[in-house]
Amino acid sequence: MAANVIIGAQWGDEGKGKVVDLYTEFADIVVRFQGGNNAGHTLVIQRDGKPQKTVLHLIPSGILHDDKTCVIAQGVVVDPDILIEEIDALRHRGYFQRDEQLLIAEDASIIMPYHRELEELREAAAGDASFGTKGRGVGPCYEDKVGRRSIFVRDLLDEPRLVEKVRAALPEKNALLHWYGYPPLDFNKVIDDLLDRAPRIAPFVGNANRFVHEAMSRGRDILFEGAHGTMLDVALGTYPYVTASHTTSAGACVGAGVAPSRIDGTIGIAKAYCTRMGAGPFPTGLDDKIGEHLREAGKEYDTMTGRARRCGWIDVAALRYAVRVNGFTGLAVTKLDVLSGLDNVKICVGYRDPAGNEYTEPIMDPEVLETLEPIYEVLPGWREDISGVRVLEELPAAARHFLSCLQTLLEVPIALVSVGPKRSETIVVQ
Ligand code: GTP
Repeated sequence: MAANVIIGAQWGDEGKGKVVDLYTEFADIVVRFQGGNNAGHTLVIQRDGKPQKTVLHLIPSGILHDDKTCVIAQGVVVDPDILIEEIDALRHRGYFQRDEQLLIAEDASIIMPYHRELEELREAAAGDASFGTKGRGVGPCYEDKVGRRSIFVRDLLDEPRLVEKVRAALPEKNALLHWYGYPPLDFNKVIDDLLDRAPRIAPFVGNANRFVHEAMSRGRDILFEGAHGTMLDVALGTYPYVTASHTTSAGACVGAGVAPSRIDGTIGIAKAYCTRMGAGPFPTGLDDKIGEHLREAGKEYDTMTGRARRCGWIDVAALRYAVRVNGFTGLAVTKLDVLSGLDNVKICVGYRDPAGNEYTEPIMDPEVLETLEPIYEVLPGWREDISGVRVLEELPAAARHFLSCLQTLLEVPIALVSVGPKRSETIVVQ
């Protein structure tokens, strides 16, 4: 029996979907604890002998296993439309046939139409200074949560309370929309749309916090599935170029209501290189042929918008910080196959500022971080296609050396290496 947390160790898009899916095999319950539908896990699973791609933005990927329970905890922000779309899409493909497979926290916050509008309008107004958010309303929804104005999932099931809360919220939101030159939202339409969605969501709503506690007390295995990555944590990331939630391991405790002492292990997921979506400093980003190689070989395009991700060498200095703030007990290194075909591979082991001072961890002030130059260790590359390798010993010597350098520098054992998008393309390290 164990409670494990899986966290993105970099800037998100580390391939958490696949790793979560693998760890889900050993879990009874999978809990999503933060973020909203601005994240996206892509899974490739063999079905009827063919690889089938499933993208999930809100529902934990554990839903693809019909014997697991998935929980959307209180720390998540829920867009009812997206939730219903995902439920329908999963059911259409033959997954998620039992309602009991999903529990949604009654106290999770709802993404309202004005959250979406406001995020888009703000991003458009910011022009070049925009944060590159996805206009899904996640940030404004968290703002309202902190501002004690959240409309909760349970409010959808209580019409008088919903009406009261929307009536209180809408004038201010409409004034803001007006400030951006946008027409006001109609009160009746907002209410009707939400009440229309409510019966679709009602079967899944409950006390998620108590459910998780009772499951833990009964010795069930729980997996807490993080979205985004450490460097995007609203408090511990490169603020303000961050997401609106706590993406680090402590976020699992707050977002699901679990005491830190109940967590047994935290697995950090890091790509064998690094990518960053959206604005903000990215010390190892490459604007050259190698960056292009990583983007093409790794298919580094956003799952939702199709925008190209910035790509660069793995940043161990940033990972050192991730190890420290998350307390990783193990590392999963993904996309090692993408590095195949390069003469050399580089590991950023620290940074140097313009005055020549050296740092072993990032400076979180983005204006300072922007000025730091990476210090690289250059290692030999390998040319072989490694996607068929299933045991560490069969990797080319240079790939093994790369992994052993990472492990030594980070002082965390590598538990798993991913060499391709499919479930089977995985090396489990004993
Ligand atoms: P976020 O929660 O938004 O950060 O998503 P994520 O971490 O799940 O990342 P994303 O969905 O962008 O997944 C990364 C992509 O890489 C998907 O298309 C996966 O199928 C693919 N992928 C995962 N592991 C590997 C791997 O080891 N090698 C290769 N080549 N592709 C992989």
